[in-house]
Amino acid sequence: MTFPPMGRRALLTGTAGTLAVTALPALSAPKRAVPSGLLHGLSPRPGLPERLPVEDPSRILLSNGWLFHEGDIVFPLPVTHDETYTNAKAGNARGAAAMEYDDSDWATVTVPHDWASAQGFVETANVSQGYRPRGIGWYRRTLRLASEDRGKKLELHFSAIATAATIWINGSVVARNFSGYNAIAIDLTPFARFGDELNVIAIRVDATAMEGWWYEGAGLYRHVWLAKRSPVSIATDGVHCDPRLGSDGRWQVPVSVTLESIARTAATATVMVDLLDPAGKVVGSARATAELQPLAEAQVAISLAVADPQLWSIEAPTLYTVRVTTDAPGGGDERRVAIGFRTIRFDANEGFFLNDKAVKLKGVCLHQDHAGVGVAVPDALLAWRLQRMKDTGVNAIRCSHNAQAPEFYQLCDRMGFVVMDENRIFNPAPENMAQLEWLVRAHRNHPSIILWSVFNEEPMQGTEAGVEMVRRMAARVHALDDSRPVTAAMNGSFYDPQNVSSVVDVMGFNYYQGDYDKFHALNPAKPSSSSEDTSAFMTRGAYATDKAAHVMSSMDTEAAPWGATHRNAWAEIAKRRFIAGGFVWTGFDYHGEPTPFTWPTIASFFGILDLCGFPKTAYDIHRAHWIDSEPVIGVAPHWTWPGREGQPIALLVTSNAERVRVVLNGRMVGEQAVDRIMGNAFTVPYAPGKLEAIALKGGREVARATHETAGPAVALRLTPARTAMLGDNEDVVPVTIDAVDAQGRHVPTENRLTRFTVDGATLIGVGNGDPNSHESEKAPQRSLFNGLAQMLVQAGEGRGKVAIAASAEGLRPARLVIDRVAASPRAQVAVTPTGAFILGWRRSKSFAAAPDPALAPPPNDNNSWDFTRSGSAATPETGPSFRLYRATLPVRRRVVAEGGTLSFTRIEGRATVYVDGRQVAAKRDFAGAPLEAAVPAGAKTVAVLVEAEPNARSGLTGAVRLAPR
Ligand code: GAL
Repeated sequence: MTFPPMGRRALLTGTAGTLAVTALPALSAPKRAVPSGLLHGLSPRPGLPERLPVEDPSRILLSNGWLFHEGDIVFPLPVTHDETYTNAKAGNARGAAAMEYDDSDWATVTVPHDWASAQGFVETANVSQGYRPRGIGWYRRTLRLASEDRGKKLELHFSAIATAATIWINGSVVARNFSGYNAIAIDLTPFARFGDELNVIAIRVDATAMEGWWYEGAGLYRHVWLAKRSPVSIATDGVHCDPRLGSDGRWQVPVSVTLESIARTAATATVMVDLLDPAGKVVGSARATAELQPLAEAQVAISLAVADPQLWSIEAPTLYTVRVTTDAPGGGDERRVAIGFRTIRFDANEGFFLNDKAVKLKGVCLHQDHAGVGVAVPDALLAWRLQRMKDTGVNAIRCSHNAQAPEFYQLCDRMGFVVMDENRIFNPAPENMAQLEWLVRAHRNHPSIILWSVFNEEPMQGTEAGVEMVRRMAARVHALDDSRPVTAAMNGSFYDPQNVSSVVDVMGFNYYQGDYDKFHALNPAKPSSSSEDTSAFMTRGAYATDKAAHVMSSMDTEAAPWGATHRNAWAEIAKRRFIAGGFVWTGFDYHGEPTPFTWPTIASFFGILDLCGFPKTAYDIHRAHWIDSEPVIGVAPHWTWPGREGQPIALLVTSNAERVRVVLNGRMVGEQAVDRIMGNAFTVPYAPGKLEAIALKGGREVARATHETAGPAVALRLTPARTAMLGDNEDVVPVTIDAVDAQGRHVPTENRLTRFTVDGATLIGVGNGDPNSHESEKAPQRSLFNGLAQMLVQAGEGRGKVAIAASAEGLRPARLVIDRVAASPRAQVAVTPTGAFILGWRRSKSFAAAPDPALAPPPNDNNSWDFTRSGSAATPETGPSFRLYRATLPVRRRVVAEGGTLSFTRIEGRATVYVDGRQVAAKRDFAGAPLEAAVPAGAKTVAVLVEAEPNARSGLTGAVRLAPR
């Protein structure tokens, strides 16, 4: 959600310190004054975050007020006949799914929430998931819906839950979802209660289920929304509006809108479609009408012709907006969908074309977690991560191996990435086919998406069954989207007589780079791309491999046996036009999959950047490969090697210029013609001082990278990714902690423990990029790792200052103030005060004279007393009428111990309240009024005798709440 101006790096670092890059005016951005010694690519950027536009104004966030219980809560098995009978009925879920469940000692949490990221590391836990116990957890949330919401279409949207989730609304199960990556939309309408009759959402999350072999997190780790729509509304994901260029060279935006109605009578809806240009000006409009039967759907199709639109591209990701508004009895609805005009094409010989221009895919595969927060990545951090990919020169992202957050696709549209979207479970059976359909339906308007991948590395890829499965899945994708090709990421079996390469549009190679040519020769008409490559290992800031210590050199010498180094992998892709591009495994390190090691290593080594987004040498390697718009240069390793004076040190210089020159302490070491892919090797006897790598073009210096030898650390330093943040309760700024020497030079070897305090913001996580560290990611402290650590700071609300301090033993502390700029937080569903609501009552028949208040339905009698809910009224009687209402008091530990208060929001009729047979309160008037009653400790039952006024309704017509005194 927050991203700085794109296209060029806002600041180029220079001056003393670690690896720094300066660009000279001739070929690059004007040189600017920069604070001393900032790290490569991590300098603060100017500007304030931009918010993602609202696509669905009918919904607001439901982030706050969730109660969380870690661990399972076993359902009490029904034993008696009464229990068994009621257990089988709607609204009567038991245990923690019951509306009345005592959650008063649960923790209050805010979503996104990943409970696994707060866990310690346990050797017996799953290695691939990063040795973090995930387990089972429960969430509950009470929700008040205003009486004006009655008649509206109400939906709950979970952008994803990790992993298997069962969801109850008001004691009825409404969803059983088995994917940790798809969104869940729940129609709340038929279950909803209004006014003081609160609603209870209960969710059991089983994160012992695994869908992947990487860290998957646990819980409500993406956004949750509440949608309130008119009775005739636009269905969720119900607008399809992806532009098409006709064979006549004219652009059309075919817009199809799915409407649905919960109205009680047939309705006519008018649908208005406007096309807004990037400046927000309406450049096309059309309207249509639809007839909707009650509880039915209708489709409206409209096409807008657009003359000469500005195209969407990686360099200029120009977006238009399709605004769909409806008008119908009961009100309208609205969606605003960002679209881009672009064409895509995969050619068997020439690779990928965007707008008829050949574009090599300079891609990365991404998992979704980050240091400190696990998979609960706030939007602003997601935007920052994508900006780090832009800085690396990436133009393509593969969603490995699952759908990403909705905001990810919005950001890719806006920042100019092309995306391979990927389905998680390879299975055309209905449950999984529905997940695939959801993926396409939910994402098919995004101009960024250029490919649908139906699987990653499936053992059945070379079988008849595998072919049949892909055929069905590909057909379903094409039925929902006729514009993008289908691929599958294969790892072998390409030449088997039956293999899925025959039924995909684009062949995807995972590794097997030696097979590119043979496959192409055998399948000359089949477009192909690497879907995954590289799998090289680097520990950020380490320059020698020490396998015993689980450390991998960052000199690009280490790779998995099935993979290749960063340079070798790209070399194979760069030299073949018919390979559309590559997808490096991976852009960032991620938790879990610590290949090639196991315990105590808890995170991966594959990233171009580490878990915090700090650059490894691969960052400079790929910048040299991928960036054409400005001169770049990098040199590894750093230049602080006390004790190694006179020893030769191998340098890797990476640049996109013509020549590179290396200078040590002002003396020329050597100059070479640039090898843009493999980099340039120099060997230099170590002498402390200043090492410079200079990039030359036409004989002139165009960029320079500098390392200076650092002395002992004397102070800490804090460097924020931005100097200002929004006071919107959501914005996040990553802050880099490093140590500097007496001259202010970054010390790349410092590993000291640093401690933090944050005022005016919340520290939501910490990290340092060390895959072997078992330090907490939530504690306000972190050791530096090879010189660096990271804090993730989330803004509070309103205008103010965020004050951050870091201290370490023996070092001068550092302080930092970030401006918190006034910003209105996004609308949130109000938090409802929790309490125990007595919902289910038994109601006697009407008596002409007051019955004995001890009267109760006999055991197993389900037919002579009504089952009723508070909030409902009994119909008037002409003569005297007495009814008895009975309920079991919900168990609330404090009330049981100390007693409490029963509050009746409204009772109509005269009433006497009895607790365990003793009268505790009475109301003498017939008129509807509230009533309070004291409940003694240990009380179990309540009975209310209501006398109706003749010809008037009566009963417990408002909520009944039990609270501690
Ligand atoms: C691939 C797989 C990735 C990851 C990678 C590690 O086979 O698709 O998910 O496991 O290997 O090298």
